[in-house]
Amino acid sequence: MDLYQALEGRRSIRKYKPDPVPADLLTKILNAGRISPSWSNLQCWKFIVIQDPAGKERLAASLPPNNPALKAVREQAPVVIVVCADPAQSGNQDGKEYYLLDAGLAMHQMMLAAYAEGLGTCWVCWFDEAKARAALQVPPEYRIVAISPLGVPERLPSPRSSKELKEIVYMEGWGRPYEK
Ligand SMILES: Cc1cc2nc3c(=O)[nH]c(=O)nc-3n(C[C@H](O)[C@H](O)[C@H](O)COP(=O)(O)O)c2cc1C
Repeated sequence: MDLYQALEGRRSIRKYKPDPVPADLLTKILNAGRISPSWSNLQCWKFIVIQDPAGKERLAASLPPNNPALKAVREQAPVVIVVCADPAQSGNQDGKEYYLLDAGLAMHQMMLAAYAEGLGTCWVCWFDEAKARAALQVPPEYRIVAISPLGVPERLPSPRSSKELKEIVYMEGWGRPYEK
């Protein structure tokens, strides 16, 4: 699949078919995260794969009941991926904690790879980290940055709405409008 097609087409998927994700495909997607860029190439992340229904149930208990992705994580998606990161293995510049970017990039590379393989994902960051940590026995030095269900989408949503370039791009410094 063309990269731009993936960038345009990927959407958050919150309803999944029960079809399993073949092991080779899961490995391919995890590899897309493994090779993503990070601060000083320190690769501060660990990925946790959950397929066991009891494990998904325990993790889902850390999501608030009104998180729209709750059902996907708890019971629908055959796989759930959790991205953890150790802030001490990344940069902290002027108070900006780059482990969040490292982990986010790894997750997004996996999401784009999943999309290219016909699978769906959804960013999930609205959860109680302490509860998720206890459910997965994550050691204290690691933060749990993001969760995503992974599976065959029940249906493909229509394109998202995004701001226009002229609303978000400035030329040569803050404030001068974008011109082609
Ligand atoms: C950092 C981050 C956290 C998010 N957390 C959640 C979440 O907890 N639950 C959920 O259903 N969607 C969550 N989303 C998905 C966004 O709502 C979604 O990406 C956005 O509406 C754009 O839609 P799209 O992903 O289909 O392009 C999150 C997205 C990002 C980038």
